Amino acid sequence: MAVAPSPHAPRAAPARSTRDQVRWAWSFVAPHRTTLAAIALTSLLGVGIGLAQPWITKLLIDDALLGGDLRLLVMLSAGMVGIGILSTAVSAWNRWIYIRASGRILFAMRGRVHAHLLTLSPRFYARWKTGDLLSRLDGDIGEILRFAVDAPLAALNAVLVLTGALTLMLLLDPWLTALALALLPAQLLFLKWVRPIVDRRTRALRERSGEVSSFLVRSLSAVKVVQAFRAERAETKRLDGLGHGYLDDLLRLQMVNFAAGAVPGLFGSVGNALVFVVGGMMVLNGAFTLGGLVAFTAYLGRATGPMQSLLGLWMAVRRARVSLDRVMEILDAAPDVADPPQPRPLPAHGPASVRLEAVDYRHAEAPVLIGATLDIPAGAKVVLVGASGAGKSTVVDLLHRHFDPQGGRVTLAGLDLRDLALADLRRAVAVMGQEVVLFPGSIADSIRLGAPEADDAAVERAARAAQLGPLLDRLPQGLDTPVGEAGALFSGGERQRMALARCLLLDPAVLVLDEPTSALDAETAAALAAEIDRLFADRTRIVVSHRPDMLTGADAVWELRDGRFRPLPQPVRESA
Ligand SMILES: Nc1ncnc2c1ncn2[C@@H]1O[C@H](COP(=O)(O)OP(=O)(O)OP(=O)(O)O)[C@@H](O)[C@H]1O
Ligand SMILES: [Mg+2]
Repeated sequence: MAVAPSPHAPRAAPARSTRDQVRWAWSFVAPHRTTLAAIALTSLLGVGIGLAQPWITKLLIDDALLGGDLRLLVMLSAGMVGIGILSTAVSAWNRWIYIRASGRILFAMRGRVHAHLLTLSPRFYARWKTGDLLSRLDGDIGEILRFAVDAPLAALNAVLVLTGALTLMLLLDPWLTALALALLPAQLLFLKWVRPIVDRRTRALRERSGEVSSFLVRSLSAVKVVQAFRAERAETKRLDGLGHGYLDDLLRLQMVNFAAGAVPGLFGSVGNALVFVVGGMMVLNGAFTLGGLVAFTAYLGRATGPMQSLLGLWMAVRRARVSLDRVMEILDAAPDVADPPQPRPLPAHGPASVRLEAVDYRHAEAPVLIGATLDIPAGAKVVLVGASGAGKSTVVDLLHRHFDPQGGRVTLAGLDLRDLALADLRRAVAVMGQEVVLFPGSIADSIRLGAPEADDAAVERAARAAQLGPLLDRLPQGLDTPVGEAGALFSGGERQRMALARCLLLDPAVLVLDEPTSALDAETAAALAAEIDRLFADRTRIVVSHRPDMLTGADAVWELRDGRFRPLPQPVRESA
C-alpha cells in the first residue's frame, strides 16, 4: 500500500540543545522581566541597608562608645531602628511581587506542557504512566522555575553582597581580607568533585518520586478492584517497598547535598578563626581598632553566605538541567496527528459519507486492519459486528483520527481525514466510545462538553432523547445534579446515556457509537435505539453492536474479521 509520504508523514521530534532548553524556560520569564528588574533593584537597596549596619556598629564602638559621645550614640541607635523599619517594608513588598510573578510563570509553564499533553494520542498514554507525568508537571516544573527565577535573583543578590562586603573588607584591612579568602581554591576543587554525584542522585530521586505517584494514582483509581480481590495487603506492601527505595535515594541525595553545603561551610569557619586570631593580635598591638575588627568579622560573615550560594548555585543549575530534560521529553513527544497546513473545509451541515479505502493498521507489530474497505453512504445506518479484539474500536479511533492508518485512507464526505482540521472533523463526527468518562460538574456540564454554547433546553432535549428522563425526574436537582469524581455516583447505564446525550447535543453529521447499549436492559436499549433512529434518520450512523435492537433499521451489517469487512445478510427492516 504505497502512499505518497510527503503530505502526511509523521513529524520527527526536534532535538533540543541546552541553549534551546534555556531559551524555552526564558520565554516564560521574559514577559515578567520588568517585575524581576524591580525585584533586583529593591534587593540592591536591601544589600545597601544590610552593608550599612556593620559600619554603623563600628562607628558606635569606636566613635560613640570609646569616644564618649552620648549624642552620637543616641543618633546612631535611632538610625539603626529607622534602617530596620525601612528594610522590613522593602522586603515585604519585594516578596509580594516576587511570589506573584513566579506563580504566574509557573502556571504559564505548566499550562504550556499540559496543552501539549492534550494533543498527544492514545499511543503516548499507553507508554507513559500518569504518575510519572504528574511528577514532571509538578516537581520538575517547580525545579525549572527555581532555576529560571530564583537562581538569577539569588546570583545577583550574592554578587552585590559579595562585592559590597569585599570592598568594605578591603577598605578595613587588605591583608586580613587576603587571609580570609585563602581557603577558597580548596572549596572550588571540592565542589567540582561533588557535582556529578549530585546530578546522578537528583535524577534517581525524581524517578523514584514518579514511581510513587504512579503507584498511588493507579492504586486509588482502582480501589474497588483492590478490595474485591482482597489485594489491600499486597498493595500496602508494594507501597512500602517503593517507600523504602524512595527513602534510600532521598537520604543519599540529602547527604550529598548536605556535604556540598557543609564542607565549604567548614572551610569558612576555619577562615573565620584565622581572622579572629590574626585580627585579634592586631587589635592587641594597636594596629587595628576594636570596632574595625567587629565590623570586619561581620562583613566576613555576610560574605560567606553569598560566596557559598554562588558556589552552590551550579547545584541548582544541575538540578534544573535534569528537570528540563525530563520536561523536554514530554514536549518532544510529537503528536501522532496534527492539523494539515491548509485544512480543507467540510461541506456545510448534513449527512456525510464515510469510507475506509484499503486501510492497513497495526498496533506496534500486531496487524489489526489489513486492506480494510468499507463504504458508508451519506445518511445510512451501518452496524459493525466482530469478535472481541477484531479491531472495531480501532476503526472508531481511526474515524476520529486518534491515529492515522499506515496504509490506505479514511474519508469523510470524500475528503481524506488528514486534510481536515481536527476540530472540524471532531465536531462533524460524534463518537461515543466504549469507556464512558464524565467530568466533575453537573450532569448538564458533562453533556455540554463538546457544545458549550448549547442552551438549557437543548441540553434537556438531548438528555431525554438519550433516555435520561426517568433519572432526571427522580433527581431533585435534575440536570444540575453534581456528577462527582469520574461519575461514580451513577450506574454504568446512566453514565452511558449521559455520554450519548453529549454526542446527540453535538448534532453531528456522523454519529459513531461503540457498544452504546452494552450496559442497558433490553427495554431501555430498544427505546434508545428507536430514539436515535428517529432523531438521526437523515444522518450517517455507524454502530458497533451485537444487540438485535441496534440491528433494526440498519441499511447494512458488516462483520470485521481477519482485518477486513465482510457483508452479513441484510436484517429485516421493521419500519416499512
Ligand atoms: N494501544 C494498543 N497497543 C497495542 N495493541 C492494541 C492497542 N489497542 C488495541 N490493541 C489491540 O488491537 C486489537 C483490536 O483492538 P480493538 O479494541 O479495536 O478491538 P475491538 O474489536 O473493539 O474489541 P472489543 O469488542 O473487545 O471492544 C486487539 O487485539 C487489541 O489487543
Ligand atoms: Mg472495542
